Amino acid sequence: MAAKNSWWEGAVIYQLIPRSYSDGNGDGIGDLQGLSSRLSYLRWLGIEAIWLTPLYPSPLQDGGYDITDFKSIHPDLGDLAAFHRFLTAAHDQGMRVILDLVLNHTSHLHPWFQRARWAPKGSTERDVYVWSDDPNRYAKAPVLFRKFEASNWQWDEVAEQYYLHRFLRHQPDLNYENPWVQEQMLEVVDFWLERGVDGFRLDAVPFLFESEGTRCEGLPETHSFLKKVRKRVETNGRDVLLLAEAIQPVDEAAPYLADDELHGAFNFALTAHLFAAIASGNCKKLRLCLQDAQRVVPGCRWALPLRNHDELWLGDGHLVSEDVIQSIRSGLHEGHGHWLNWGINRRLAPLLNGDPRANRLLHALLYSLPGMPCLYYGDELGMGDWPGLRDRDPNRTPMAWTPARNGGFSSAPDPLLVLPAITAPGYDYRVVNVEVQKQLPGSLLNWHRRMLTCRRLLPALRRGDFQIIESAHPSVLIYSRSTSRMTVLIAANLSGAGASLRIDLSKWKGARTREVLWGCEYPVADDNWFIYLPSYGFSWWLIGEVEEEDVS
Ligand code: GLC
Ligand code: CA
Repeated sequence: MAAKNSWWEGAVIYQLIPRSYSDGNGDGIGDLQGLSSRLSYLRWLGIEAIWLTPLYPSPLQDGGYDITDFKSIHPDLGDLAAFHRFLTAAHDQGMRVILDLVLNHTSHLHPWFQRARWAPKGSTERDVYVWSDDPNRYAKAPVLFRKFEASNWQWDEVAEQYYLHRFLRHQPDLNYENPWVQEQMLEVVDFWLERGVDGFRLDAVPFLFESEGTRCEGLPETHSFLKKVRKRVETNGRDVLLLAEAIQPVDEAAPYLADDELHGAFNFALTAHLFAAIASGNCKKLRLCLQDAQRVVPGCRWALPLRNHDELWLGDGHLVSEDVIQSIRSGLHEGHGHWLNWGINRRLAPLLNGDPRANRLLHALLYSLPGMPCLYYGDELGMGDWPGLRDRDPNRTPMAWTPARNGGFSSAPDPLLVLPAITAPGYDYRVVNVEVQKQLPGSLLNWHRRMLTCRRLLPALRRGDFQIIESAHPSVLIYSRSTSRMTVLIAANLSGAGASLRIDLSKWKGARTREVLWGCEYPVADDNWFIYLPSYGFSWWLIGEVEEEDVS
């Protein structure tokens, strides 16, 4: 069981790409110095933990997920001393730091791979990666990046063998059958723990081991290794989060959350169902997915993202059913075009047709459902994207800070920027940026900040039990979050039309009800309680009285 009141239970996580966040030295590339200068913004917003996509030396053929040295910092971003300064500053401001831990593969330029391909067949050095003379080995394992690769195997002329790569050919898979590999990667964990990080997001975690005749996902050996990672983390003695990236349905992601394995896992099926519900105006399947997730792993151990640095991964019918994929493709504004490998390659705002009401609604759910809400940088502003950039770069463009040059991201001339700042109509950085939105009381940014403040004032939203409440309306999702001293009732209308309905609150009959966000009094709870929610509307009500010490 997770330690009681671990820091990460219900923590609000903010994901950012250091290269795209803030440039401190004016070379056009975001870095640790720039990021450190933005910590007060994150603090102001109400963020509790910062998840950084990979910081390590890399040829950047896969956004830094192709690593050449696990124990160092990419020179564009700074060095270990700059990392130390950043981490100390984040801790001083009360925020935690989560690093991406890429266990499955390295870059093909990693010295281990270069040594492996030159070493004799069957030698220990060769054995650090997965080789084959036959490219049909593990034929049941799907090709993940199918837009870029036709096979999971790549011929290596020096080695005169094929090597396995579940992602790009520039990312050979490590061979976890080899105890040396296991030990090296455990040492990587030690290395960053000793430097004081608070958690790891474990990248592509299902793929560590392979077995003939299977999809090579989540094999028992993979789980055993992850248990070793957990043990290693525990010997360090600090409260550290291990968060799995496993793009699997909830019942397949749940085993990573065994008591002696990882603490958290993203609920990507829920993400898809949230989009399907808003695309179709029907929340029946969303309700079922929520019930399933709580049945298999009750509590706050699911991490809840809307968007991230990847495509909105929908899969081949394995993660969610074909009809859910179809309702997203046909119902979302940008659902049809922009398909990359297995999903839609757009940011949140364009997917929601720039409608701030839909952004608010989806985040109001994220901020009140059980789990760790994950906010992707820029989504607090409704930032846009640049379709047409290569791979997933449309979703990774510079953060918009001010209306000044390059959105205040960098003082470098535009052509030197890591990626172009957004100037697309409706999303231009001169309008959509932190400085402007801070000054407008009704802005999306100020709304996010206010919601996170309310969340802090309502501990039931962080740790409370979760219960779905019957709703006769197909578009309206209703649930409660309760601790022994506080109950919050949440209702959300996933459709573009207004909804009026009656709710049975006989469980709390006679209790006082107050809407939290507007601060207004409602009639006392009864078995025939009436509400109206405008299009994409939602409300949070406090039911009954709250014991003082619970409000912190
Ligand atoms: C994960 C990352 C993705 C990366 C892949 C390979 O899915 O989120 O960005 O390309 O793993 O490391
Ligand atoms: Ca820089």
